[in-house]
Amino acid sequence: MYQFMAKFIKQDQWSFMNYGYAHINNHDQRPILETSDEVNRLSFQLYHHLASEIELENKILLEIGSGRGGGASMIKKYLNPSSMVGLDYSSNAVKLCNKNHGREGLRFVEGDAENLPFTHESFDAVINVESSHCYESMSRFLKEVKKVLKPGGHFLFTDFRYSHEMDELEKQLSDSEMQITKKSDITPNVLQALDEDHDRRMTEISKSVPKPFINQFREFAGVKDSVVYKQFANRELIYFSYILQKV
Ligand SMILES: C[S@@+](CC[C@H](N)C(=O)[O-])C[C@H]1O[C@@H](n2cnc3c(N)ncnc32)[C@H](O)[C@@H]1O
Repeated sequence: MYQFMAKFIKQDQWSFMNYGYAHINNHDQRPILETSDEVNRLSFQLYHHLASEIELENKILLEIGSGRGGGASMIKKYLNPSSMVGLDYSSNAVKLCNKNHGREGLRFVEGDAENLPFTHESFDAVINVESSHCYESMSRFLKEVKKVLKPGGHFLFTDFRYSHEMDELEKQLSDSEMQITKKSDITPNVLQALDEDHDRRMTEISKSVPKPFINQFREFAGVKDSVVYKQFANRELIYFSYILQKV
């Protein structure tokens, strides 16, 4: 699906592939964005929810599962890490990202989350947004994250799982020998984001997606009638975030 999307949907305005994050409490700090980035506010806020937990300025950052590159690009722009690498399994997505977002201090490489092509202790932080549910082995992935993090480095992690899988995930994270410093259930924030973004998603899909694939894409995008939307609403699916530290 991700290879297909990168090959056939080249538009720069579709630079995220996540369900988004809406602020529910009025006292929450919303990121200040340039007007041209407002269209991606909800998707970027999912990144910002994690990235605002630690100082990223002048740090060396890796994103695993960087998709269409919008998250890495906006983190580089607004949070100022000294350098950032986005890694993704999809060769088409990596090509598209380097063309649309590559610049000094930001590059994209092809690779596997479970076998990272980087030397030990080379990053201050690793970010991973809505990608880990695709991986074969979560334990192998966590071992790789720990390997490439410098001592004291942070792992910023968000994704979804079925509610009956959450205990197993918690055990995998506890066994990773990284320390969990914060965890949150953000299902209500994601659901609110899907509500707020419904009309835009429907419009983009009907504009950009070839007719035979429209229903499949509506499911994938989590619009209001989709199975995934209903599963978030009845909490069969849980969207979570964790901050871990390599101690
Ligand atoms: C739902 S998209 C999220 C993309 C991006 N993080 C965002 O929020 O827009 C999931 C991404 O994970 C990537 N992915 C899946 N399995 C992977 C693996 N084993 N190694 C690296 N990337 C992988 C997919 O190619 C896809 O780009």
